[in-house]
Amino acid sequence: MARGELMKKLLASYGREDDFRAVAEQIILEEEQKNNRVLARSLRKTLDHATATSGNTSKPAQPKSLGALITFPDAGSDFVERVEPTHTKSDITLSHANIRVFTGLIQEFRRSDEIRRNGLPVRSKLLFCGPPGCGKTLCAEVFAVELGLPLFVVKLDQLISSYLGETAGNVRKIFEFARKQPCVLFLDEFDALARSRDDSAEHNELRRVVNSLLLFIDRMQTRGFMIAATNLDSSLDAAIWRRFDEVVWFDRPDLSLIAKFVSSKFCNSPVDFEATKHIHLLEGYSYAEIERVCIQAIKSPIIKRRKKITEQDFIAAIGDETRRRTGRARL
Ligand SMILES: Nc1ncnc2c1ncn2[C@@H]1O[C@H](COP(=O)(O)OP(=O)(O)O)[C@@H](O)[C@H]1O
Ligand SMILES: [Mg+2]
Repeated sequence: MARGELMKKLLASYGREDDFRAVAEQIILEEEQKNNRVLARSLRKTLDHATATSGNTSKPAQPKSLGALITFPDAGSDFVERVEPTHTKSDITLSHANIRVFTGLIQEFRRSDEIRRNGLPVRSKLLFCGPPGCGKTLCAEVFAVELGLPLFVVKLDQLISSYLGETAGNVRKIFEFARKQPCVLFLDEFDALARSRDDSAEHNELRRVVNSLLLFIDRMQTRGFMIAATNLDSSLDAAIWRRFDEVVWFDRPDLSLIAKFVSSKFCNSPVDFEATKHIHLLEGYSYAEIERVCIQAIKSPIIKRRKKITEQDFIAAIGDETRRRTGRARL
């Protein structure tokens, strides 16, 4: 944005702390982008000092211990939700590549103090990409469980759409919160944000909100992880990509992962055929779709008062899912 415009905005935000901070952040970022690092650093110091001494909520980061759980400020409770995980790692099927990525991230997190003491950065901002139903949300949950951190889900679409006018402040509260509270902060449906950035006809206010959110993500220092999930991939613009330390792909399962997944679903159900014989019919389906097939097949013997799942049950369930898919394709 032109400097004059930013100055006008800065003056117009007089008396409104959150708006003032959002514009000030934007000015600092512009200086950073212009490579005026000394000025940017000095502006940042001045801003941090000003807000820390103004008696408001922007206190410096809290001590390091995993203290009691801080409740989320009321104003944010409509778009941030504490989620109690109900799944564990035995519930998720991951590719070998992703198992390696997550094992690495967990090990790094456990040694984060030491890594930082050596002046090295710790990866903490992750972007999960991939088609729906392939485990992005599930993995965020399991990851939080594995790390022993609370999971907070940010409802971005609501944040963007219903809070225009006061969003900058709400966004700031989310990030202040994540700085104080070691947690996994999950920004689901990050596409909502990407879309609003793309849409050139959008309202100025919306653009400002999106930009301030991206700015906060840039500057964010979590003591846990920030994970954003999106169904979009290549259409996500570069300004968004570069903000993440790691991008993890959640693809539809290949044949060997389908076999593994189907076996895990049938592990407690009596089956009188070799399910792997038919898994090629499920190629190209998401985990969520395959799970639906398995659940239908598992229900069949209960409905038909039989003891075991038959080959016909399984094939019929696959047929139902295929019909459902074809129907959806027609929409
Ligand atoms: N990789 C996976 N392993 C096991 N189950 C999965 C996996 N991916 C999806 N599922 C099943 O599908 C449901 C929906 O998946 P979800 O994580 O919400 O997908 P996404 O967030 O990628 O759209 C999950 O709750 C789970 O039951
Ligand atoms: Mg999801």
